[in-house]
Amino acid sequence: MKADITIMSGDGVGPEITREAVKALQAIGAVFDHDFSLNEVLFGGIAIDETGTPYPEKTQQACKNSDAVLLGAVGGPKWSDPNMKIRPEKEGLLEMRADLGIYANIRPIKTYQELIDNSPIKNRYLENIDMVFVRELTGGIYFGEKKKTDTFASDICEYSKVEIERITRVAANIAQGRRKKITSVDKANVMATSQLWRSTTTELIEKEYSELELEHIFIDAATMHLLSRPADFDVILTDNLFGDILTDEAAMLTGSIGMLPSACLGEDSFGVYEPIHGSAPDIANQGIANPCGAILSVAMLLQYSLSLEEEAQVIEQSVAGVIEESILTKDLTGSGYVSTEEMGTAVTKKILQT
Ligand code: NAD
Ligand code: IPM
Ligand code: MN
Repeated sequence: MKADITIMSGDGVGPEITREAVKALQAIGAVFDHDFSLNEVLFGGIAIDETGTPYPEKTQQACKNSDAVLLGAVGGPKWSDPNMKIRPEKEGLLEMRADLGIYANIRPIKTYQELIDNSPIKNRYLENIDMVFVRELTGGIYFGEKKKTDTFASDICEYSKVEIERITRVAANIAQGRRKKITSVDKANVMATSQLWRSTTTELIEKEYSELELEHIFIDAATMHLLSRPADFDVILTDNLFGDILTDEAAMLTGSIGMLPSACLGEDSFGVYEPIHGSAPDIANQGIANPCGAILSVAMLLQYSLSLEEEAQVIEQSVAGVIEESILTKDLTGSGYVSTEEMGTAVTKKILQT
């Protein structure tokens, strides 16, 4: 197969982890004889430095002309002064998500037996965890009108019924291929958007997906249930902000945020794939970042944008195999550890051995 893939390494640990993910992608190309054409473009803080804007026209065109985008992470102390007019997160990441119409953020949470002791949660809570977050990505409080003066600030949270329906369908379609259960998270006891969220999800699931079970829980309780009964969850449907917060919390069930991939999807097969973590400036340029979230994002890219199921599984098995052999980056171990590059090379070797 031929595919055009745009690479946006971004800032901080972005280039370090993306390099390893690209190695895995190229290994898949070699093993399965696919012609992946890779095009690296500027995005985020580095794009501000070099072009004055975090999502330059050339980057926009590259994304739109490709089958999928692989993204590292953006942001960092150099660009985090809130008074800056242009920032990697808002004018870069959020603008890109809106521009490309990728409203569905899929974040699977998978634990590995070998990493269980690395989680701060007691082992007995961590058996049989297998959940997928479906987070709305282009609406809510992130995108409503913002106002700020020296003495007043506001963020408007908005959702239309259509936006809630389309993300609910994504969650429902995923739940159908799994344990057929959706947990929708909201704050319907306080927020109008959550009340519309609750009534819309209820109505749609009853009408179009009556075989699915739908439960509603409040966000405050959700943060607790996620730790006290994580194995009960199958598909968790959230708005933009709640999903952002809950997935970082869920990362701690797995032992490290460095393990988790994500897919950002719209109406067709195009998608942007990125680890759920950020640019990790505290560990950038030390060669210790965990590249697995980025590598597993390649697996999601192969699965969702290119329909290459077997190839996606080879990546997942290769990562699992490396972890089984205790080849671990610093975040995954209390004692000895391998570098970002060594971890990437170990996964790539496994892919080449298939
Ligand atoms: P972060 O996810 O970058 O880091 C949180 C903690 O997790 C840090 O201690 C970091 O060292 C650790 N960590 C993250 N990724 C890791 C990896 N691959 N291996 C090992 N450890 C890892 O979150 P933050 O510190 O709140 O944010 C840093 C910057 O990243 C900010 O500018 C933020 O806006 C940005 N950010 C970007 C994205 C994105 O591009 N999608 C996502 C989240 C945060
Ligand atoms: C993420 C990040 C972003 C978000 C930030 C950097 C804008 O935290 O992708 O999870 O909140 O969506
Ligand atoms: Mn986040």
